[in-house]
Amino acid sequence: MGRIRKVAVLTSGGDAPGMNAAIRAVVRSAIYNDLQVAGIYRGFEGMIEGDIEPLTARSVNHILQRGGTVLKSARSKDFKTKSGRAKAHEKLKSNGIDAVVAIGGDGTFAGAKQFNAEFDFPFIGIPCTIDNDLIGTDNTIGFDTALNTVIDAVDKIRDTAASHNRLFFVEVMGRDAGFIAAHAGLASGALAILVPERNMTIDDLVERLREARRHNKTSSIVIVAEGGKSGNATEIAHKVHEQAPYYETKVTILGHIQRGGPPTCFDRNLASRLGVAAIEKLLKGERDGMVGIVNQKIILTPFAEATSDKLILDPELLRIADILSI
Ligand code: F6P
Repeated sequence: MGRIRKVAVLTSGGDAPGMNAAIRAVVRSAIYNDLQVAGIYRGFEGMIEGDIEPLTARSVNHILQRGGTVLKSARSKDFKTKSGRAKAHEKLKSNGIDAVVAIGGDGTFAGAKQFNAEFDFPFIGIPCTIDNDLIGTDNTIGFDTALNTVIDAVDKIRDTAASHNRLFFVEVMGRDAGFIAAHAGLASGALAILVPERNMTIDDLVERLREARRHNKTSSIVIVAEGGKSGNATEIAHKVHEQAPYYETKVTILGHIQRGGPPTCFDRNLASRLGVAAIEKLLKGERDGMVGIVNQKIILTPFAEATSDKLILDPELLRIADILSI
């Protein structure tokens, strides 16, 4: 394997605030180190189709503070096939690309792992998803911004909940992981937090609501992760109302507003650090793995390990939220 001269960067999977800051960091640190850089549009889909353009330091002006991704993103079915990956490899070679930096989540890294195994092609990943469910980093880019979006919304909902003595069910993102629900629920003083990782039945929830009523709580917020075990927020609200009709229940689904908006200072700086780290790892000869920060130290986790399991939600957060919700 010769020296790396040209590196390509792509964003893949669900977008997350801070993706642009990571693109900027990869592009500028590559150029700083005398590498050529190309942008691959629409993730692995664009890699297969050869949707690849050269980038300069000026191409990434004024994107640090913007949500979304200027390179666009996609979830590619074709990249899951051997023929799709072979086409992608051809396009990389014909564009003179020696290494790829992929910004995304577990699906992105599963694709990178497979590609690496087949073509022994240098690939470094940058963890960027609002879900924060990856092994190998304390925080994923976008999680902090999404949390701040959620607590801002819940604070507003609480005003109206309190004014009308209502019970609000707020649904947040997290199909398989309850990190957003747990962290935002604790930070916004939720009465209960329903996550995929914990089994809280409707009976448990109704009992908690009754207890709250006995303690003179007149309004409450329940945070529900979209992948919660007892159903989505609308289903849960309906079931609770059947058992506790004295509550006026309302449902708010926050949806994709959690994926947009300017990244927080934390996410901008995390993205900047990991973008530079990705290029420095490639220059040191690393060819496989996701960069992350654990206990303030940059580490590289091989894709096989980073995709071997989901990060486990610390039940301590839920325990603290339970104590404080009386
Ligand atoms: O993985 C990020 C995420 O926002 C999840 O929290 C959510 O379940 C999913 O993506 C939604 O995906 P889509 O972009 O397909 O709506």
